[in-house]
Amino acid sequence: MLKGARALVVGIANEHSIAYGCAKAFREFGADLALTYLNDKAKPYVEPLARTLEAPIFLPLDFAQAGSLEAVFEHVTQVWGRLDIMVHSAAFAPKEDLQGGLLNCSAAGFATAMGVSCHSFIRMAKLAAPLMKEGGAMFAMTYHGADKVIPNYNVMGPVKAALECACRYLAFELGKQKIRVHAISPGPLKTRASSGLKDFDRLLDEATERAPLGELIDIMDVGYACAYLATPCARRITGGTIYVDGGTNIRA
Ligand SMILES: NC(=O)c1ccc[n+]([C@@H]2O[C@H](COP(=O)([O-])OP(=O)(O)OC[C@H]3O[C@@H](n4cnc5c(N)ncnc54)[C@H](O)[C@@H]3O)[C@@H](O)[C@H]2O)c1
Repeated sequence: MLKGARALVVGIANEHSIAYGCAKAFREFGADLALTYLNDKAKPYVEPLARTLEAPIFLPLDFAQAGSLEAVFEHVTQVWGRLDIMVHSAAFAPKEDLQGGLLNCSAAGFATAMGVSCHSFIRMAKLAAPLMKEGGAMFAMTYHGADKVIPNYNVMGPVKAALECACRYLAFELGKQKIRVHAISPGPLKTRASSGLKDFDRLLDEATERAPLGELIDIMDVGYACAYLATPCARRITGGTIYVDGGTNIRA
């Protein structure tokens, strides 16, 4: 159902990345992919995956580097001239600011976390919207810690709350252009990013126990949800936070 669609997916670090599940699902549904990697250190892990997925566009992207995001969009504009799907699946906070509790998060750490994990999505949306000439779908990855207090999630709670809110405002502003914006809220998954959270294994155990469906999710669960939301079958769905967590979020 996505044959011929053009999808830019940001946030693949390795085969465990949520972004990789999204890219795989889009490809399975027939889309062509533009994929990015953070830097030269990350490239050897991402390049084989880009090859497997036959991505015609493969570029470095570091939100914190001036001009890096603009260069990606210049390239996408030159090669494709349009875009249908965009995924932002990236987050970062300095370790000392992430692990020290919200009270102890420094102003600089807060700004960095917000810049890389939230404002970068707004920047991407601004550059992608003119390319989504026939409408499109934008996705940002969030977590339930935006809405409820999850021990050790700390500064990422407020950052993800801002991201979910940004999705609502962008959905409102871009709706007239038939661009739909979704915050996707996966349950916990063992990835490079989640390994920075204290006691993450306990979170995984609790998620298994508490999920009405009784098991953890995998990256393809997230990928297929996004792929469906990108199809015309979901053409009237926008602005919400969509949980892919086996139902854990409904529990008190
Ligand atoms: N793993 C989980 O349990 C979980 C649950 C809910 C939401 N999420 C969210 O999913 C998203 C993807 O994380 P993941 O778990 O797949 O981990 P991951 O480590 O595989 O992906 C995180 C990505 O962020 C990218 N990134 C970090 N700093 C960047 C920068 N300055 N510029 C560009 N990219 C940058 C990394 O290169 C990496 O590819 C994140 O937003 C995360 O908060 C993760």
